[in-house]
Amino acid sequence: MKNTPLNVVVLAAGKGTRMHSRLPKVLHALGGKSLLAHVLDRVRTLRAGRTVVVYGHGGDAVPAGFADPTLKFVLQEPQLGTGHAVQQALPHLLPGGSTVILYGDVPLTRSETLVRLAASPSGLSLLTAELDDPTGYGRIVRDAHGTIVRIVEERDATANEKRIREINTGMLCAPTARLGEWLEKLTNRNAQKEYYLTDIVALAFASKAPVSAIHPAETWEILGVNSKEQLAYLERVYQLECARELMRKGVTLADPWRFDVRGELVCGLDVSIDANCVFEGKVSLADDAKVGAGCILKDTEIGAGTVIAPYSHLDGVVAGKHCRIGPYARLRPGTRLADEVHVGNFVEIKATEVGHKSKANHLTYLGDSVIGRNVNIGAGTITCNYDGANKHRTVIEDDVFVGSDTQFVAPVTVGRGTTIGAGSTITRNTPPGELTLSRAKQVSVPGWKRPVKKSQK
Ligand code: UD1
Ligand code: MG
Repeated sequence: MKNTPLNVVVLAAGKGTRMHSRLPKVLHALGGKSLLAHVLDRVRTLRAGRTVVVYGHGGDAVPAGFADPTLKFVLQEPQLGTGHAVQQALPHLLPGGSTVILYGDVPLTRSETLVRLAASPSGLSLLTAELDDPTGYGRIVRDAHGTIVRIVEERDATANEKRIREINTGMLCAPTARLGEWLEKLTNRNAQKEYYLTDIVALAFASKAPVSAIHPAETWEILGVNSKEQLAYLERVYQLECARELMRKGVTLADPWRFDVRGELVCGLDVSIDANCVFEGKVSLADDAKVGAGCILKDTEIGAGTVIAPYSHLDGVVAGKHCRIGPYARLRPGTRLADEVHVGNFVEIKATEVGHKSKANHLTYLGDSVIGRNVNIGAGTITCNYDGANKHRTVIEDDVFVGSDTQFVAPVTVGRGTTIGAGSTITRNTPPGELTLSRAKQVSVPGWKRPVKKSQK
């Protein structure tokens, strides 16, 4: 193949002044992932022989964010322009074949577009777009035959050139050997005193190398992030694309404009999601699952037919089929719910397995425990799992009925079929099948009078 080996160079050395942040621009998050991670994930589909990231501002924070040993990080210091940035990458490129150049702050270019760019014919290939408002971008200058002859930067453009609406996105593909020759000839004789990568277009034209252009399917594919406002705009573009993709697969979204995926969301058939939910990390919702308004789910697996009522927060949860969760449930890492479990309002669960058909419907904390099948946990039940130094386990066996306002002082085991009387503090294991309660006997004091407020003189 003429294009092999393929190199990719990602330019990420710029300061991002307009972000007004200590964080290097390419590390700002979009959909829960850094801008540079978006670019590198899409680059992976190109299966390049070598990927070089040129970094500068923010120092080691940029390479430190990426553990991938197949990436080569190259420092550009000082930053003398986009052409100078690519020059720093040159010694690290595989010789022959071609090189694709991308920007670390343009996160949403589709893989299909990158594939087309990488597969473009010999010579220099540019990704260009027609914009209604081309202000700020380099303009593509064509001759009378429509042949691309050079790129002129906004700051160097004449009034006539500024009227050109075809702009340079910055992304291009060039034969690696020619790229090296052209870069050697760059000068910084321009308004910004920088080595412009864009000047290689005129050099390619002069050396009679064919220069062609391809276009993205969507304009947002080429948009970069220079400010928080642009970051927020692209976040909405990204979220709407995620929403569309899910709707295409049959997911019902109450409002695709009020929906956020900050990771990966996988849905089965007939799943429905109400407004203002946030999905983080890896979340899966099996067939017929329903998520109520305002829920936050992180690294969670939800079984078929399970319903999560509004304003529930789930993190690190595996729930079985046909469970009912919430409203206002807080399920923390290590929560495992078997099928048909009910967890109601103001119930917090952590590192706990809850067995088939068990219920904890109101105002409860279950931590570091194992709850058997068909257990009913009354309102206000608390596992006292922490003694101030160590955590201890509570085991509640099958068919236990726990009366309201019970405390289990762990470690403790509640035998199968036990009934716990309301208001008990259980500190010792209970025998199976019996009623256990720990309460002061109820007394009534005849003739007792309520205190009355003393009159103040
Ligand atoms: C560049 C293009 C312009 C194009 C625009 C698209 C040049 C000279 N101009 O302009 O034609 O329309 O992008 O957005 O290339 N970078 C480095 N090292 C540097 C300078 C920049 O790594 O020394 C990186 C930046 O981090 C950024 C990218 O290169 O990812 C583009 O740099 P930027 O300064 O934004 O270029 P523009 O002036 O916008
Ligand atoms: Mg820019």
